Amino acid sequence: MLATNGRMKIAIQRSGRLTDDSVNLLRACGLSFEFQKQSLYSPCRNFNLDILAIRDDDIPEYVQDGVADMGIVGENIIRERNAKVEVLETLGFGGCRLMISIPQRSPIRKIADLRGSRIGTTYPNILKTFLKTNKVKAEVIELSGSVELAPSLDVADTICDLVSTGTTAKMNGLKPFCTVLESQAVLIANPAILRDKKKKPDIDRLSIRLKGSLEARGKRYLMMNAPVQSISRIKEILPSLKSPTIVPLADPNLVAVHSVVAEDVFWDVMEKLKKAGATGIIVVPIETIIQ
Ligand code: PRP
Ligand code: ZN
Repeated sequence: MLATNGRMKIAIQRSGRLTDDSVNLLRACGLSFEFQKQSLYSPCRNFNLDILAIRDDDIPEYVQDGVADMGIVGENIIRERNAKVEVLETLGFGGCRLMISIPQRSPIRKIADLRGSRIGTTYPNILKTFLKTNKVKAEVIELSGSVELAPSLDVADTICDLVSTGTTAKMNGLKPFCTVLESQAVLIANPAILRDKKKKPDIDRLSIRLKGSLEARGKRYLMMNAPVQSISRIKEILPSLKSPTIVPLADPNLVAVHSVVAEDVFWDVMEKLKKAGATGIIVVPIETIIQ
């Protein structure tokens, strides 16, 4: 039976905003598995791990109850469910905002204007806290899905829902009004398994791999040749993780310089290096960095 087969389990979103990034992250950790949205679980061939593909809304409870040992899910859902889970890592993808959106022609201008209005949401707990903090008395209409339709069906006046690109709100004649919560994907674990001597070693192995792939994200490895007299100038230019590696070459006037550079400053750095006398600059992608 799946529940008692003794293998570790990680729950990910079956189909939605987090699915592709979650699968890619697990693959970047060297895990080999087939992933089909139709099947509930995919066993890893080369790690003691099964991947459970379920509705993201169910992930915090699955992990809290120990049905899954770990999970990848949005902070927004953990907060709404108030789940007793341990957050091991923020993952840097799945960024979105829980926002109150209002109809295009709404007269609402400030938060106080929400007083007396009906706000449709699948996040009643977070919304109630937000309203309380802002001292606004509004009616929270708890919905189970398709929240963006609520104003046009006159079920609610405004909505509180996740906004990522903003397309869903716009297509339904709504405009974002204010942010209630910012969220991104996190890796969570059941608190008890972190103390489980049998499971802990595998969790640690997986954590190291995850951290390595996250650390490498957005970084490139640079290699170049440089005249010896340019070394100090080049060292100033390189925003390396640590100091760059400098290796002597057969030609005593030249050295090879290796360094890690972030993607966003990469072209600037390249141009400066060239001006400083670097030649034969080679750039390669990095898969993982183990510190
Ligand atoms: C959220 C939200 C909207 C959509 C907004 O759904 O409920 O439908 O994303 O994205 P957009 O601003 O890019 O249009 P989610 O991915 O959480 O799926 P779910 O509600 O089915 O769980
Ligand atoms: Zn969901």
